[in-house]
Amino acid sequence: MRYVFLTGTNRGLGQAAAETFKDSKIISITRSSVEESENIHKAFSVDFSNADAMEKFIPEIFNSVEPDETDEVYLLNVAGIVDPVKSVSNISAEEMMKNYTVNVVAPTLLIQGFINRFKTFGGEKRIVTVTSGAARGPVEGWSIYCSSKAAVNMIHSVLDKENISQKNNIKSAVFYPGVIDTGMQETIRASDINEFPDLGRFKEYKENKVLRRAEEVAAALHTVVTLDDFGSEASYDVKDYV
Ligand SMILES: NC(=O)c1ccc[n+]([C@@H]2O[C@H](COP(=O)([O-])OP(=O)(O)OC[C@H]3O[C@@H](n4cnc5c(N)ncnc54)[C@H](OP(=O)(O)O)[C@@H]3O)[C@@H](O)[C@H]2O)c1
Repeated sequence: MRYVFLTGTNRGLGQAAAETFKDSKIISITRSSVEESENIHKAFSVDFSNADAMEKFIPEIFNSVEPDETDEVYLLNVAGIVDPVKSVSNISAEEMMKNYTVNVVAPTLLIQGFINRFKTFGGEKRIVTVTSGAARGPVEGWSIYCSSKAAVNMIHSVLDKENISQKNNIKSAVFYPGVIDTGMQETIRASDINEFPDLGRFKEYKENKVLRRAEEVAAALHTVVTLDDFGSEASYDVKDYV
């Protein structure tokens, strides 16, 4: 059996991933509540912007399953936010902290919880965090989002080294999902053009049907994380798997 700890299960890419991983037992970790079902083995609710609550709750989440050595355990960090979409000169400290807590601290705490809980687990262990092209290219109005995803990439780069030196036996990578037709794109299209000069380009993505369906991206994510040699690359891009 494969146990998949999945964030963002209630909508967008995370919800599509939950459908795609029907072959697995999903342990859902969301802010908005999700019902346990045939597909969702267990469901936990916690607000990722509350780092203290996350830290206290995480052991309970990872202790909720008892895999044996023939099982596999995966962690898929999917949840994320784009806000604040504002120029650097206009962003409050609170807005910065909220984004970094949801996009960087929360997935890192989950990675930490996964490593520690499954330290002595001899089965297959895999971690994927969903990143963004914004990590590699600056976008006006997205300073916090771009830098949060760049931070996630670096955390994974360090993790790769530590996995080897600490003999964690964990395979991990980041996944570039491209542009997806989800609520995040609605948020982007609702941005103020004065804060986000690229607004027109993103409206055109929708009009010209450039955005990929979440189901298509989730299928690519499934292909990536179940590759026989998963982890041989530090990052995977959706365009190579659709
Ligand atoms: N959409 C794109 O074009 C695109 C492009 C590049 C990268 N990505 C990345 O892909 C991932 C999935 O994005 P998406 O497009 O599926 O976005 P989405 O439709 O906006 O969904 C975001 C998910 O994150 C969760 N989330 C937000 N704030 C949270 C909080 N405080 N605590 C816990 N969960 C929270 C949401 O839960 P609630 O319903 O409770 O808010 C939701 O499940 C993100 O990491 C995003 O950065 C997306």
